Amino acid sequence: MPEIRRVAVLGCGLMGSGIAELAARAGFDTHVREIDDEFANKGRTAIEKSLNRAVEKGKLEAGARDAALGRIHMTTRLEDLAEADIVIEAVTEDLALKNRMFATLDKLCGPGTIFASNTSSLTIAAMAAATSRPDRFVGLHFFNPVPVMKLVEVVRSIATDGGVFQQALAFTRTLGKEPVEAKDTSGFIVNRLLVPYMLDAIRCLEQGLASMEDIDKAMTLGTGYPMGPFTLSDFVGNDTLHAIAGIMFDEFREPRFAPPPLLKRLVTAGWHGRKTGRGFYDYSDPKNPKPMSLQLT
Ligand code: CAA
Repeated sequence: MPEIRRVAVLGCGLMGSGIAELAARAGFDTHVREIDDEFANKGRTAIEKSLNRAVEKGKLEAGARDAALGRIHMTTRLEDLAEADIVIEAVTEDLALKNRMFATLDKLCGPGTIFASNTSSLTIAAMAAATSRPDRFVGLHFFNPVPVMKLVEVVRSIATDGGVFQQALAFTRTLGKEPVEAKDTSGFIVNRLLVPYMLDAIRCLEQGLASMEDIDKAMTLGTGYPMGPFTLSDFVGNDTLHAIAGIMFDEFREPRFAPPPLLKRLVTAGWHGRKTGRGFYDYSDPKNPKPMSLQLT
């Protein structure tokens, strides 16, 4: 098995920037591809901000931050990822888009390159099929915020080679994460359980069980969750939750995965959560979010 030295990350949004930061901090030469210069600059700024935060908190030396930043190479060209030993894809949850990128990279990269997807709901088999290397294709599902959450779900499809899977598990440990093994089923472990819970909370709100703040309060103070379901949905992105739920509903055809109408309305209105300033809560004052008036009665 070729050793992993050079890491490529496709997409430098919320998840991609976190994954690139981890790889660079762990000492890997890290090449990150975004669609244009504006997104590439935004992505690099996000990584810098996160590294600075680690320095301010005393978790990282200023020298180590500078070294990590020096290992990050932003690009807009897929060709610049050709020498990577592992490519980790973290673009929008759109199978056609992912498959176009993987099919192109399949031709550019050498036969030893491992392909990995950070998908949260699509199956690995559906992406591996777009390439000539289904045996070298795994899922590496990270959690938001990537620098903080310890878990990575490492997913093998029916075609993944056993040695490649072991290498992927070892790679997540070199990034300082704790892996769990999961089979290639939509949502893997965490979203299989978390998504129906969040959707149920929205249905409870639609049915008038309690107010949004009280449901959030109940789940934080009553069960020790760090965020209640509405705060978490705004944090993950209501558009992301909606997309994941749609994919999981298509896979399982069970009502518990069906996106509730209220979630759909929020997405249509552009209330995607924290990142757009509005969701279930209004983040005009980010330190003091106010519940939105959703006119449910
Ligand atoms: N980047 C780096 N560090 C961050 C961070 C970020 N974006 N956000 C918070 N932190 C760090 C802080 O620096 C702080 O570190 P110290 O303890 O060393 O000071 C620590 O995390 C706690 O942060 P705060 O004190 O600011 O705030 P908090 O105590 O409210 O914690 C949180 C914030 C870690 C996000 C916590 O609320 C939490 O764990 N929330 C749940 C997150 C969750 O469930 N994530 C999974 C979502 S599902 C998913 O990602 C998968 C999917 O497919 C949809």
